[in-house]
Parts: sequence; C-alpha cells; structure tokens
Amino acid sequence: MKFLKLLLLLFVLPLSAQQGGMWIPSLLSGMNETEMKNLGMKMSADDIYSVNHSSLKDAVPQFNGGCTSEMISPKGLLLTNHHCGFSQIQSHSSVDHDYLTDGFWAMKMEDELPNKDLVVTFMVSINDVTAQILEGVDAIPSEAEKQKKIQENITKVTASFPKEAWQENKVRTFFEGNQYILFVTETFKDVRLVGAPPSLIGKFGSDTDNWVWPRHTGDFSMFRIYADKNNRPAAYSKDNVPYTPKHFLPVSLDGVQEDDFTMVFGYPGKTQEYLPSFAVDQIVKELNPAKIEIRDAALKTQDGFMRKDNAIKIQYASKYASVANYWKKWIGESQGLKKSNAVKIKQDFEKDFQQKVIASGKQNEYGNLLTEFEKNYKEIAPYSLSRDYFMEVVTKNTELLSVGYKLYQLEQVYATKGEQAFNDRKDNLIKVQADFYKDFNKNVDEKVFEKLIAIYAEKAPKQFLPTSLTNADYKKLTTLLYSKSKLVDYAKFKELLSGDAKSVLKKLNKDKGYAFVKSLADNYTKNIAPKYDEINLKIVALQRTYMKAQLELYPNSRIFPDANSTLRVTYGKVKGYAPKDATYYNAVTYLEGAMEKYIPGDYEFDIPKKLIELYDAKDYGQYADNGKLPVCFIGTNHTTGGNSGSPAVDAEGNLIGLNFDRVWEGTMSDIHYDPAICRNVMVDMRYVLFIIDKFAGAKHLVDEMKLVHPKKK
Ligand code: ARG
Ligand code: GLU
Repeated sequence: MKFLKLLLLLFVLPLSAQQGGMWIPSLLSGMNETEMKNLGMKMSADDIYSVNHSSLKDAVPQFNGGCTSEMISPKGLLLTNHHCGFSQIQSHSSVDHDYLTDGFWAMKMEDELPNKDLVVTFMVSINDVTAQILEGVDAIPSEAEKQKKIQENITKVTASFPKEAWQENKVRTFFEGNQYILFVTETFKDVRLVGAPPSLIGKFGSDTDNWVWPRHTGDFSMFRIYADKNNRPAAYSKDNVPYTPKHFLPVSLDGVQEDDFTMVFGYPGKTQEYLPSFAVDQIVKELNPAKIEIRDAALKTQDGFMRKDNAIKIQYASKYASVANYWKKWIGESQGLKKSNAVKIKQDFEKDFQQKVIASGKQNEYGNLLTEFEKNYKEIAPYSLSRDYFMEVVTKNTELLSVGYKLYQLEQVYATKGEQAFNDRKDNLIKVQADFYKDFNKNVDEKVFEKLIAIYAEKAPKQFLPTSLTNADYKKLTTLLYSKSKLVDYAKFKELLSGDAKSVLKKLNKDKGYAFVKSLADNYTKNIAPKYDEINLKIVALQRTYMKAQLELYPNSRIFPDANSTLRVTYGKVKGYAPKDATYYNAVTYLEGAMEKYIPGDYEFDIPKKLIELYDAKDYGQYADNGKLPVCFIGTNHTTGGNSGSPAVDAEGNLIGLNFDRVWEGTMSDIHYDPAICRNVMVDMRYVLFIIDKFAGAKHLVDEMKLVHPKKK
C-alpha cells in the first residue's frame, strides 16, 4: 500500500519536483532510486553505497574537514578544488617561487610536496544508532538534562561500536535530533600536493565572478594520498607508498548536454531548510545586513592595501577570499529569499501545518509549536544580533582582536583547568600563531580595526554594548592599541607569553590590546552568551519537535535531513535557467567565454599567455567538443558549502565535473531550495584534463587515470 502511494506520487510529481535535497547514501533505495532512474540514472542504489563490495562512496573522501575530494587513479591521485587546496598551495609559495601565480606541477612522485596538518577522511560505513543514543532520554523532563544524557550515550556508543584499530567512530544527529547515525571513518595524514594551475585559471574571475554564472574558472588542484606498507593511514614518512583506493572514478571524455542526469556526492556543511518563517524573516531583515556591512568595510580596507603591495596581496589573499566568500553569499541569499517570497511560502506552509495538526488531533503535542517559535525568536533577536556583531568583529575580521580572544580563552583555561592545561595550550598557541604572524600586517589591520570598531559601537544593540565602547574616540583608541599593544608583533607576543601562568597573566592584563579584548569578551560572556544559550536551547527543542511533527504529518513529502558535514547524495539534471525576464542562461560555457572576459594585466581576468596560444591554435586535443573547449556547466543538484570539490558523475558513475559553486540567484538554497533557479556550478573534467595535459605538460597524470567514452560505446 505504501509502495503504491509512492508510485502514484512519483507519477504525479513533475520531474522538476523530483530534484533538490541532500540524501543519506545508505538510504536511497525506494523513493530516491526511483526518482534518480526517472531522471536517467543507470546505476543502482547499491552501486552508490554498499558495505559488501566497493562502491562510489569509497572514492569520495572529505578533504581537510571542510571540502570534498575524489580518487581518480589506482595510485592515490586525489582531485579537489583550487580554493580547497589554496592554503596548501599558498604555504609552499613565496615571492621567489609563487605557486599561486605560476601554478605547480610535480613531474615525478619525488617532487610532490608534503603538507603538515592536511587530512583526508573516508567514510567506511553508515550505521543507525538512534535507539542507543535516545535510550532513557524521553523520561527526562529538563531539556539541558536531556542533552547531557544524549552526550553520555554518544560517548558510550562511540567508544564501544566495533571498528578496526586505525579507524574512528563519529556520531552525528539527523533531522534535528530525531535520528542518530554512527560513521566509521579512516583518516589519511600523508597527503601531498601534486599540481595546481595558476590562479588566473584556478581562480579566474576571482571575487567578481564568485557565486555568479556564466563562469570560466578551472577551480581544481591535485593531491596524492600516501599510506603505509599495509595501505593504511600513517603520519608522513618518506617510506610511505601511494594509497590504493577501494574505488576510483573513471573520467568521461564525452561530457554533458542539457537534460543529462547528474549526481553530486559530497560533504555539505550546513543548511537550515526547516526554519520557521520568523527565523527567516530575522535573517533577511537583521542578521544578514549586519554581517554584510561589517565585512564590506573590512574587505574594502584590505583591498586598498592589496592592490598597491604585492607582498600584502600574497599575505592576505587567502583571508580575503574567505571573508569575501560569505559576504557575497549573504548578499545573494538575502536577495533570493526576498525575490522568491521565502517568508510568505513558509507562512503558507505554517498555516497548512496548523490545520494538519488540528485535523490529526495532535493539538496537545504540536498545537503550540508555532506560537512558541514566534515568542522565542522575538526574545532571542537582540541577543542573536549582538552575538553576530561580536563574532564578526572580534573573532573573525579584526586580527588583533582575534589573537586577543585566543588569549582570553587561555586565561579562562587557567581559571577552570589549572596551570598544566594553561601551559599546554600556551605552548600550542605560540606554535600555531607563528603562521598567523607570517601573514599579519599591522597597518592593514589597524585600518580595519578603526572601521569595524566604529560600526560595532554605533550599530550593535545599545543595551548590550560594553562600556569600553560606549563613549570611545575610535581614532584615539586605534592609535593607542596599535602603538602600545604587544599583540601586533610575533616577537613581542612570545615575550608576553614567556614565564609561568601567574606572570603571563599579569603581563597580559597590563597590555592595552588584551585589556580591550577582555572588556569586549567579558561583556559577551556575561551579558549576551548565557541568555542566548538559554533561549537557543528552547529553540533547538522546538525545532526537534517541529521536525518530528513534519515527518509524521507529511509522510509522503520529500523530507531530507539538513546538511551536517556528512556524506550526502544530491541529484538532478544539467540545466540552464532563466534568472530574469527574457533572459535564459545556457548550461555550458566554453573557452570563448573566458576570452570574452579577458582583461590583460587585470588580477582577476588576465589569462596566461600559453592558454591564449592554445586557444588561438584551437589545440584542444581529445578534450574538445565539436571543435570548442567546454569549461563549466550547471545543474539542479542541491549543494552547499562543503560540497566544494565534490565529484559530479554521469548516469553510470563516471566523473564529468568538479563542483565548486552555486549561481547568484540560487544562493538562498541553504534556506529555501527552488528547482527553477537553484543551480550548482561545476568545472567540466575535459577542461581539467586539458589544463593538466596541454597547458601544464603533465600528461603523465592523465595517463594514470581511466578515461572512458560512455556515449560512444
Ligand atoms: N563560492 C565558492 C564557495 O563557496 C567558491 C569560493 C572560493 N572562491 C573565491 N573567489 N573566493 O566556496
Ligand atoms: N564553494 C563552496 C564550498 O567551498 C561550494 C559551493 C556552495 O556553497 O554551494 O564548499
């Protein structure tokens, strides 16, 4: 009966409504598999995820916690985005050998560059442990005690679930606390840089083109995983050998056409698809605009310095890109939410929900959910806003304050955990801050500080402002801190941290910079965080019940769990879109389009000479499509941050593209996915291969791969 209903549903749903969503790879059989086949997939759910034989999932590890990557050769070759490998490429660069500018290619394995702290994690198995984690939880009335019990259960299950000695167990929650899944994982620690194109290819269009279609970026870089003699994870050693993956992706030379099936496999970080209308309203009206204004000021200031000084440009490139990325995303997201009437759509859904609650006689359980949401969101609003100001200004965008905040946390460690913990953390800080100071420029940060602190003081909710900000003369304050504080220089920073805990804390508290950070942080921890946490805990509980109610009351809806940095599958079609009246964007771009954007000498739109020569000669080798070279394409796959570097595969599981972005009009998909305009952006594998082979002359890497012609069989 249930099956019949499902069939009927899929028959009635138009194809466009069978797209969107980020699904758990072990649970695809049933509705998802049927939809995927409707869209053209030729594989089975078992080819995608299986514990009994190798499957697609064995080729898709998470890259350094925040991105995705894929195995593309039997010898451990790994592909991800240029922007995912950016900090590794940068860390091997200097003004003399600048791999960001010139690219890097290891012509033999000995030349591949090891990377301290870079890890790649494979997901070995997916196991539902909901019953164990929720054991004894229902009976506990208090929400805080509930959470404590859940944490205890997680610790217990994580410690006892069977795994091999070199593996790890991790438990994650799905559907906001309604389901728990344990992942057995394997983490490789010897991952070496193999190749990266020049930024003018890997980051072509840079921040101007970021989040925008049409796109012409070759956003890829290559690494190789090394393992010990038993093919298991090991710390870096020159005796390690290239890893032999359980599965690697064949690469298609036939590419894609509009309406072809595509599937993206990866580790999406965070979405909020089930927020109530009140929350979305607050994001659009208050939170996004505040964060955008702060970053706007920081970015403009840094850009001024970077354009004039190449050393500063190298120092700030990575930081700037990271701040600019979400700044721009939030702008697009706000516009998209407004244009698509997301709040109204949510409100309409809430009306329907309320009626369903009544019709099913569940008023006792779910009848007050929405009014409770409304009340709590109203109450949390000024705390959320103050928290965002604090996080953005202090911990994210002003470097002096962010170092100071780390020291503030160090002082807390002394107070709560004692001298030994203090010393351990202190030694570690001295080590990691070396990299920070290598890329720190006092003059840049001083200007950023002056701007941001003024915004903070003038725009953050007045009732929660610390006294150190209420009547400050920003200019004087800035000059004072940057001329007096020891936090602006690594040697002085180390001097500040030398000695035993008592003397370090004494010196710290005398430092003007530290004292200022402390005034802000104390204010945050006393006046903002506790109340925020208290209300937020209630919202978390409401969200859990709201999710449970939706799963119960809408049993035939396509409800997928919000992203949580675990492995997911999303599928759809290669598809253009209409961003506005009378305009249609094609699904595929070609090298011609890069040439149209070409601005000689520009830092975003210049093109390397060699690439222009290849273009002029139409020397595309086996990578051309009807005489033209494809560069990027878009599809209806539902992706988010963390999906960068994700493989896009065709109906048979061959690699056709590398995911790296979304289109401007669809960036709201983290909150509200609309199949009409939400698109993910991928670089075509033929462009990647062309750059490796024809541009860089690293054909030996292409020879390692398995190239296929699925359409010409
Ligand atoms: N927008 C893409 C993502 O969210 C690419 C970011 C890197 N590129 C850049 N120009 N900043 O991560
Ligand atoms: N560029 C994003 C990332 O770094 C992926 C694109 C997105 O957010 O959709 O993960």
